[in-house]
Amino acid sequence: MKLIQITDPHLTLPGETLFGLDPHARLDACLDHVAKHHGDVDLVIVTGDLTHDGEPAAYAALAERLGGFALPFRLMLGNHDDRGRFAAAFPALAPDGGFFQGFVDTAEGRLILLDTLEAGRVEGHLSPERLHWLDRTLAGTGGRPAFVFMHHPPFPIHVPALDAVRLADAERFAAVLARHENVRHIFAGHVHRPSAGTWNGIGFTTLFGTCQQSAALFSENRFETSLEPPSYGVVFIDAATVTVHFVSFMA
Ligand SMILES: [Fe+2]
Repeated sequence: MKLIQITDPHLTLPGETLFGLDPHARLDACLDHVAKHHGDVDLVIVTGDLTHDGEPAAYAALAERLGGFALPFRLMLGNHDDRGRFAAAFPALAPDGGFFQGFVDTAEGRLILLDTLEAGRVEGHLSPERLHWLDRTLAGTGGRPAFVFMHHPPFPIHVPALDAVRLADAERFAAVLARHENVRHIFAGHVHRPSAGTWNGIGFTTLFGTCQQSAALFSENRFETSLEPPSYGVVFIDAATVTVHFVSFMA
């Protein structure tokens, strides 16, 4: 199975720049690169912060751009997004219990797309109903492997300013995963930095966003935007292996 993960496009009002960059041009370049090189992909997943400020015009621009994107894709929300405005721009997508989450069953197992957005909060949250949904969705695999996509990482990456705004309910989330012992990998967004490792024995990766990045400040508790070049993730999964490549798409 081959997947693409794209994260944190942070679309602005069309024509407005962000840190001197054009998020729309960046996402365009990313989608063009994916379409040109990965026509065989099973699914493209965009792991949240679709927009920077949640404006209707930003979602409308995304809907128009994706209307011309030929590959199968799923959209997730991040802390910069607005559920109501997203829903208005994508009326064909029905929320599940009020949340934009769901799962896709594949030959290699179940891909679970978990909604960690809590309106008005920078860090991620999983309300009791979302944890219950996750528990049922993992139980529904019948013991087959599962792979979790979520905007907010539950694990620290040792960048203090980013770790402070990761998933706030990480222990309760970990307890649900521990009941099932079948999650093989967590694919997160939010941090705008590539990192890889394991958390409670589960593999994880994070990625650069398609626009601005977060500086790698490991020993200072402050946030700084960086303009390191963007990339997206190319993921190969089989019974034995999860492989993630970080692919640059800017010249
Ligand atoms: Fe972001």
